[in-house]
Amino acid sequence: MALNFSAEQITLRQPDDWHVHLRDGEILKNVAISTARVFRRAIVMPNLSPPITSVEEAVNYRIRILDAIPKELSFTPLMTAYLTDDLSPKVLEQGHREGVFVAAKLYPANATTNSSQGVSDLKAIGSLFETMERIGLPLLIHGEVVDEDVDIFDREATFIDRHLQPLLVRYPKLRVVLEHITTEEAVQFVQDSKSNLAATITPHHLHINRNAIFAGGLRSDFYCLPVAKRERHRLALRRAATSGQTCFFLGTDSAPHLRGSKESSCGCAGIFNAQYALESYVTVFEEEGALERLEAFASENGPSFYGLPFNKSSVRLEKRPQQIPKQLQLKLANNSVEYLVPFHAGESLRWSLLPVEKSLNDN
Ligand code: DOR
Ligand code: ZN
Repeated sequence: MALNFSAEQITLRQPDDWHVHLRDGEILKNVAISTARVFRRAIVMPNLSPPITSVEEAVNYRIRILDAIPKELSFTPLMTAYLTDDLSPKVLEQGHREGVFVAAKLYPANATTNSSQGVSDLKAIGSLFETMERIGLPLLIHGEVVDEDVDIFDREATFIDRHLQPLLVRYPKLRVVLEHITTEEAVQFVQDSKSNLAATITPHHLHINRNAIFAGGLRSDFYCLPVAKRERHRLALRRAATSGQTCFFLGTDSAPHLRGSKESSCGCAGIFNAQYALESYVTVFEEEGALERLEAFASENGPSFYGLPFNKSSVRLEKRPQQIPKQLQLKLANNSVEYLVPFHAGESLRWSLLPVEKSLNDN
């Protein structure tokens, strides 16, 4: 299948989301469809409360995800393990052998939402890295240091210097994805590395710089981690995403938090972008004059890195403006009223997604 685009329509191989938070319970039931209506597969983050640290928990979580998705949609959740200081390498081996874990996620302890049980000392979990290197289980990294002496805007670049670089030297065959990169330094580092390092890029980091968080007041809808950086970093991310280089691929980092949890004296980090994610990426590729490289970023570079087949189904977008709602009301069992604010709330996007078509040979 080839990418097909004109001024009015784009047809592309169905994309996958290589980094998403689907949550659990009522939120899962509300948000899963936003991902499954456009993406064929998704790497599902394990930072639930409590986190996914066993094969059984991942299997049960996968069942809950599939239960939350309408039967007519073909969607495969790809499960991940949450690394902790005392996780046994045997859990990773078992999950990999049984085809449950597709990757494992490293959160430095207290770096972000539900990361308090993350890793406090990377040097102390060498046996996990050795195991992953040996069995070929990719390591997905939230690449930020949490040291008090490091400015929040420097956390990613410092993580690369202090931790990522030595890690790659020590475990040269480990396959690593530096998730949701936000800096020119990260772009450069990934580009200059060998093919066992890749990076995901979110729609929001392609659209906003750090000014968005403070435009006319404190705008918690644009607060996420790693936090958006200066304009020069956003431009570097745009060049990377639209470059066609195989080391960069789509990962939305869609991270829903109820409106009340965002608009609080200590608002949560995370942007819910799943609902309009593809339209958001398409806008960037169109603005950069790079629509012919959209398919590589959205649908090919990710599966190539993970050693998975390309999807056979396709999705279609047409140039029809759509108004993005200011908020989305959740359907809740107990009749209470809760909202999520989607990324691009109140804006108009130029492209609209058409319902997913299945090919005869859908995988
Ligand atoms: O903004 C974020 N939200 N960054 C993360 O790393 C986690 C995520 C979440 O789970 O809410
Ligand atoms: Zn994330």
